[in-house]
Amino acid sequence: MDMNFTEEQQMMQKMVRDFAQKEITGEIERMETEDRFPKEIIQKMGELGLMGIPIPEEYGGSGMDFVSYISAIHELSKVSATVGVILSVHTSVGSNPILYFGNENQKKHYLPKLASGEYLGAFALTEPSAGSDAGNLKTKAKKDGDTYILNGSKVFITNGGEADTYITFARTGEGSKGISAFIIEKNTPGLIIGKKEKKMGLHGSNTVALTFDNCVISKEQLLGEEGDGFKIAMANLNVGRIGIAAQALGIGEAALEHAVGYAKEREQFGKPIAVNQGISFKLADMATSVEAAKLLVYQAAALVQRGIPCGKEASMAKMYASKTAVQTAIEAVQVYGGYGYTEDYPAERFFRDAKITEIYEGANEIQHIVIAKNLLKN
Ligand code: CAA
Repeated sequence: MDMNFTEEQQMMQKMVRDFAQKEITGEIERMETEDRFPKEIIQKMGELGLMGIPIPEEYGGSGMDFVSYISAIHELSKVSATVGVILSVHTSVGSNPILYFGNENQKKHYLPKLASGEYLGAFALTEPSAGSDAGNLKTKAKKDGDTYILNGSKVFITNGGEADTYITFARTGEGSKGISAFIIEKNTPGLIIGKKEKKMGLHGSNTVALTFDNCVISKEQLLGEEGDGFKIAMANLNVGRIGIAAQALGIGEAALEHAVGYAKEREQFGKPIAVNQGISFKLADMATSVEAAKLLVYQAAALVQRGIPCGKEASMAKMYASKTAVQTAIEAVQVYGGYGYTEDYPAERFFRDAKITEIYEGANEIQHIVIAKNLLKN
């Protein structure tokens, strides 16, 4: 599909595609078998300006448009969904909240470090009893003079054990308007990095629990005003979901490309399996869904770029692209047959990596709620 990219966007797409092939492909096995966070890759991405693509140049970023950012996640995720999610979380929900809601001091202090990759960002919203029901979180931030004291726990924090800053949500009052957002730095006394999850997929991506045990921070670390937290979380998730949609698109496209390649090569009954309609129709369905997902993802990204509210379109893109990633990966395993069920071929990795895209940054059941609310509100 011709995305009508500008010359600059095409250059970004090609640069990331080449980078992923050259620098990431060879590291996949190590990420898979050792579940090792790809520090060196992230460092190189920082050097190339990929850790701050949409951050303005005045704050040390690349100052590029949102479509370029989304195409970078898409291209990275075709090779490694792990690297794709590290970048998406770091940028969409780890850095952008500071860009959009931070004061000038916070922007000047944190954004250049995040944009260069010196700092890695994380987003601490989810709690053991507040996942989909994010507005019901329990972590408390008690004001005490010029400080806040945080107590509570968070789970499933992507980048959590490797991050330098955590956009953290805690309760300063009642209800969803009683949630505030804070920028918390690693090594703050009372911030304890907990158990690293052993996940089905996305090996190499670091997911941990966090505990705040009388964690004292300065009031300067408050992001926005007291009580703005839920609004900040929702606003950044609205846009962040397009990043996860791009990650899912990358996985789906990779599954399709591998399945097509294998179907043309693999011979049974004296001919390539691709000549059987049982296989070729499957590939046709997979390709159609991937193409439709691509349109939704880049449509949502273009709306962000034009400053048009797009919560509904972002949720549609995330819901459709993640379903497509899962279905396409399942069908890719089927095309590979018994080999697809082994670790010798990438189809099983695509399936394991795809599943989480239907769950995080708002489970698809939540995307239905967001889409339906938007449809019915006027
Ligand atoms: N955009 C903007 N504002 C929104 C919003 C949205 N998508 N959803 C709700 N709001 C606003 C409402 O307008 C309302 O504001 P007012 O009171 O001023 O009218 C306020 O927030 C409360 O709204 P609701 O009563 O509708 O909120 P709710 O408690 O029913 O929850 C929800 C709504 C959509 C279910 C929300 O809780 C939600 O999105 N849940 C999913 C949480 C999530 O996505 N977590 C992801 C964790 S991060 C992650 O996964 C990163 C990773 O690792 C990859």
